[in-house]
Amino acid sequence: MHAMGTFDGKRVLVTGGGTGIGREIAHAFVRQGADVAICGRRPGPLKAARDDEIARRDHMHIIECDVSDPDDVASMAARIEKSLGGLDVLVNNAGVDERGSLEQLELRAIDRVLNINLRGAIITTRAMLPLLRRSGRGACVLNISSTLGQIAEESSVAYCISKAGLEMLTRCVALDCAPDGIRVNAIAPGVVDTPIQDHVKGELGYQEWRSQMEHLHPMQSIGRPKDVAAAALFLCSPDADWLTGVILPVDGGMTAR
Ligand SMILES: NC(=O)c1ccc[n+]([C@@H]2O[C@H](COP(=O)([O-])OP(=O)(O)OC[C@H]3O[C@@H](n4cnc5c(N)ncnc54)[C@H](OP(=O)(O)O)[C@@H]3O)[C@@H](O)[C@H]2O)c1
Repeated sequence: MHAMGTFDGKRVLVTGGGTGIGREIAHAFVRQGADVAICGRRPGPLKAARDDEIARRDHMHIIECDVSDPDDVASMAARIEKSLGGLDVLVNNAGVDERGSLEQLELRAIDRVLNINLRGAIITTRAMLPLLRRSGRGACVLNISSTLGQIAEESSVAYCISKAGLEMLTRCVALDCAPDGIRVNAIAPGVVDTPIQDHVKGELGYQEWRSQMEHLHPMQSIGRPKDVAAAALFLCSPDADWLTGVILPVDGGMTAR
């Protein structure tokens, strides 16, 4: 028997929920009583994320979907309606990184980052808003941005502009949905040890990467997926009922500088 949770009976979609931050967010919601759908392009990580949640595995639903493909996302909306009966919380977490300056990056690499990180959130939010609207007051959207939505970084132009766009998307959609009681917020994490960092870890070696990254944060530590998941639960909970259009840094003080 499951103890009472903050999200008992709520229906949640976490894009990119098979790995890293998204996986932790999905598990946090399911442990608080939610039915959670996770999507991604590769079935392997999605299945592993579901199977690792042994106690509440039946409440994890996996959907193969590329968020940058509107047809895929339309099918996902239909699947969610059928298997979950609606949607209360959308977490736009899917994201990719491509390192390089404007001249170094191929145009298709820039397009890929913008298509997934920004346009993917646009497509998914558009497709899920009718479901969220049916849930009424208390439904919400949470976008996973980055400190790089506000801080420019060398060799990160595609990623930085995608996240800056995602933050403005957060505020615009928050305004448009406010009269209906649907809240739209974002989290801007600092550096967290997840697969998205693998290429930089590979270049520097793990220990060197870790110590360089720790020094970027005033608290001298990098984040854990659960630091982001805790903030996600709060922003989507009834305790945050009057919060909308907010970009919450979860970054060990990085953006306080
Ligand atoms: N780790 C950090 O330091 C950090 C810091 C700030 C912000 N973030 C943000 O946090 C979010 C999660 O990243 P992470 O750190 O947890 O890295 P991650 O483990 O690489 O997670 C990214 C997830 O997104 C999925 N994804 C990528 N493209 C997709 C697409 N087109 N359609 C559907 N799913 C897609 C990936 O699965 P598939 O490849 O199977 O599709 C993967 O599960 C990202 O938005 C990232 O920008 C991360």
